[in-house]
Amino acid sequence: MKKIGIVGGTGYTGVELMRLLAHHPDVEVVAMTSRGEAGRRVDDLYPSLRGHTDLVFSEPGQADLAACDLVFFATPNGIAMREAPALLEQGVRVIDLAADFRLKDLDVWSRWYGMEHASPDWVAQAAYGLPELYRDEIRGAQLVANPGCHVTATTLAILPVMGAEWVEHDRIVADTKSGASGAGRSAAVHTLMAEAGESVRTYAAAGHRHQPEIRQTLTAVAEREIGLTFVPHLVPMVRGIESTVYLPLAGEPDDLQQRYERYYAEEPFVDVMPPNSHPETRSVRGNNLCRMAVHRPLDGPMLVVSSVIDNLVKGAAGQAVQNMNLMLGCPETAGLDLVALSP
Ligand SMILES: NC(=O)c1ccc[n+]([C@@H]2O[C@H](COP(=O)([O-])OP(=O)(O)OC[C@H]3O[C@@H](n4cnc5c(N)ncnc54)[C@H](OP(=O)(O)O)[C@@H]3O)[C@@H](O)[C@H]2O)c1
Repeated sequence: MKKIGIVGGTGYTGVELMRLLAHHPDVEVVAMTSRGEAGRRVDDLYPSLRGHTDLVFSEPGQADLAACDLVFFATPNGIAMREAPALLEQGVRVIDLAADFRLKDLDVWSRWYGMEHASPDWVAQAAYGLPELYRDEIRGAQLVANPGCHVTATTLAILPVMGAEWVEHDRIVADTKSGASGAGRSAAVHTLMAEAGESVRTYAAAGHRHQPEIRQTLTAVAEREIGLTFVPHLVPMVRGIESTVYLPLAGEPDDLQQRYERYYAEEPFVDVMPPNSHPETRSVRGNNLCRMAVHRPLDGPMLVVSSVIDNLVKGAAGQAVQNMNLMLGCPETAGLDLVALSP
């Protein structure tokens, strides 16, 4: 069994990693850290894990992370860039669920994240953890930057048409909706039930950190500059992201349904629905799928793709486990063969 550590085990993505890894056939979680809950049993804080783990949270400095084969950082931005290099230098493999290693351009990174990067060399070496695009690179990587949640739903919705001469690459619009767990477990007024319940609101319309991340990937694939307007919304649900993407057409496209089905035919975690479908976030709650549907309203000059994920699974911990499977040579679907909760 490979040994796994989780830094930031009390957070929503940390505990989701534990849920997914509890019955993984090839790995064992041997350490979960928390500064605030060190010494407390994991299943005392999260009774959903009773009977599945005997672990006790440990201080990040006390946990023997160097003895792990792979360590997940499920921490806020700016932690892994300082803490991961010491582990990487000892040969431990690392997956960062935060944004520290996602953007290759360090000036762009500093502008959006408001700090100087602490380990620029590792940014250059990190593989971007979107398996549908970078599977081979991820297999050989020592460090993987797990993509953002809005980013995953949106990028997967757009990839199959990038580079097509009949798409206007400079006028793409992505309108996303996410649930409150996307903001993490720390207390914040805007995610209180009385603030977020029965209300929908736009946020970061003037510019969101996930925009440059989506652009970085799409620009590389399309081999041209991308113009992307990205506007997220907070909606009153706990889990889930829906991304509606609008792609203006500059000419007559080929069969869009067939194009999407072919592009993702071999992908275990992307489901292209039949024509005239409308994916729902609840159809992926708790599993690692990105489910999407392709439309061309009134046969007009716009391609519309609706894509849904569970932000904590394909948008974070599930995708991280998918990446871990590739890095450790396990079957890619190990621990992730789950049916969504319904209703
Ligand atoms: N939530 C999502 O849907 C989602 C999706 C994609 C990506 N992400 C990213 O994944 C990361 C984790 O998100 P989350 O939602 O799980 O956050 P969270 O619920 O706020 O949890 C953060 C965790 O990090 C620990 N932590 C905080 N500061 C730390 C430090 N200085 N050193 C070590 N541990 C520290 C916290 O525990 P202690 O304070 O007790 O140590 C806690 O366990 C974030 O970077 C987030 O942007 C989240």
